[in-house]
Amino acid sequence: MPLKPFDIPGASNLIGGAWIRGNATIQVTNPSDGERLTTIARGDVADVDAAVTAAQAARDGDWGRMTALDRGRVLTKIGQAVLEQIDTLARIEAMDVGKPLSQARADAVALARYMEFYGGAADKITGETIPYLNGYTVYTLREAHGVTGHIIPWNYPMQIIGRSVGAALAMGNACVLKPAEDACLTALAFAAIAMQAGLPDGALNVVTGLGSEAGAALAAHPGVQHMSFTGSVRTGEAIQAAAAKNVIPVTLELGGKSPQLVFDDADLDRALPFLVNAGIQNAGQTCSASSRILVQRGVYDQVRDRMAEAYRGLKVGPAMDDLHVGPLISARQKEIVEGFLARGDDLAIAAQGQIMTDAPGHYVRPTLFVDVPPDHALARDEIFGPVQVIIPFEDEAEALRIANGTDYGLVASVWTRDGGRQMRLAKALRSGQVFINNYGAGGGVELPFGGVGKSGHGREKGFEALYGFSTLKTVAAWHG
Ligand code: NAI
Ligand code: MG
Repeated sequence: MPLKPFDIPGASNLIGGAWIRGNATIQVTNPSDGERLTTIARGDVADVDAAVTAAQAARDGDWGRMTALDRGRVLTKIGQAVLEQIDTLARIEAMDVGKPLSQARADAVALARYMEFYGGAADKITGETIPYLNGYTVYTLREAHGVTGHIIPWNYPMQIIGRSVGAALAMGNACVLKPAEDACLTALAFAAIAMQAGLPDGALNVVTGLGSEAGAALAAHPGVQHMSFTGSVRTGEAIQAAAAKNVIPVTLELGGKSPQLVFDDADLDRALPFLVNAGIQNAGQTCSASSRILVQRGVYDQVRDRMAEAYRGLKVGPAMDDLHVGPLISARQKEIVEGFLARGDDLAIAAQGQIMTDAPGHYVRPTLFVDVPPDHALARDEIFGPVQVIIPFEDEAEALRIANGTDYGLVASVWTRDGGRQMRLAKALRSGQVFINNYGAGGGVELPFGGVGKSGHGREKGFEALYGFSTLKTVAAWHG
């Protein structure tokens, strides 16, 4: 049993520091081979209500009274405890979500790093004093929202827990986390680690279950003062509508159609691995996946051929075999991706990767489409699978038009040696992050992250997240 090292009783939610068995359960299967792994609780409205009540009690109790310094120390300790459990967390994640082992390991390392970063940051967020009328002293206080809700997806559970729960706890919020039904095990394991490391009861509560049940109950709960969501645009709209009823702020991170722009003067040897990896990492199930490669005519044939060569070498197989690409998360996700592949039957395929197993997992062949018109569905819609399209362009103006031509705007990158072009495009691209001669900057716990347009709003990661997970109070004192 993968959860044994953390001593979690089966099919339970963590509410107020206690593991409470759910009334109903959900079967957990391994996407690499369809094997049954364990069961989790199918949390309901009552479980969510109990979790919110427990979170409020923590705010009113030990957790709410803790100094910023002590909160930081707890988070730092959690980070150290996560570091000690990296191999176990990576194995659990690989089995639960089908992520190749070394990619799962990188997520566990990032989770530890988020705890260290936000542990160090907790006592460094300050207000200001404001010069005002004679006889007044005015200052601002950064305060916790109170109870924060976190609904997260299945693609990067550990990283998203790190960036959202980590930042929320640093500011003194008490959290209720609803992980995705397909990926709850590392969320439960993390909560167990956090409790062992000294997080007070109720500061973090975890309710597993379905989006339409536990998720919807959390999004609508009047006791929640801030909602953080990562996932699909459709569910993001529902979360924002629910938040509107309670008039609370939301942070939405809703994925994208992130482009890389490759100009004739680019350093192709450096660019090549980034062009491919950004599309196939985690089987393309990445909010910031680069699914569009825009290439200037002068290097088009060369980039196409070199990417095709890389695709022919891509191996797909069980997470534990640690190949380039694992299975997709679920039969449903495979159906979605295969639907997109079918819609590309009017397009040219330059190359595909190889499936190396007969196991009944949710495998698809990585596929590279070329000469794709910018208005084609495969060039506009988020696919969330190991699929990339190459689109040719003539000049900078056309590249920018294509790059900004989708509903999304999460991440973009520019490959060119021309310094002026780097600066112009960094400003002109409609995107939450822009990378110059790289993609993703190595993950970047420190780097604010979030989208524009249908990629969402609000920022997580870095110091910026701490402003989102807190509210500002202005105090004006008249003393004559
Ligand atoms: P989803 O957005 O429905 O699921 C994400 C989370 O929201 C899960 O925890 C789920 O339980 C919860 N949820 C679902 N419906 C809810 C509701 N009505 N109220 C509250 N919570 C709810 O995403 P899904 O269905 O798993 O994937 C569908 C597509 O969404 C993917 O093909 C992909 O395009 C996109 N997606 C984007 C992600 C990103 O990182 N931006 C992550 C996951 C999916
Ligand atoms: Mg799973």
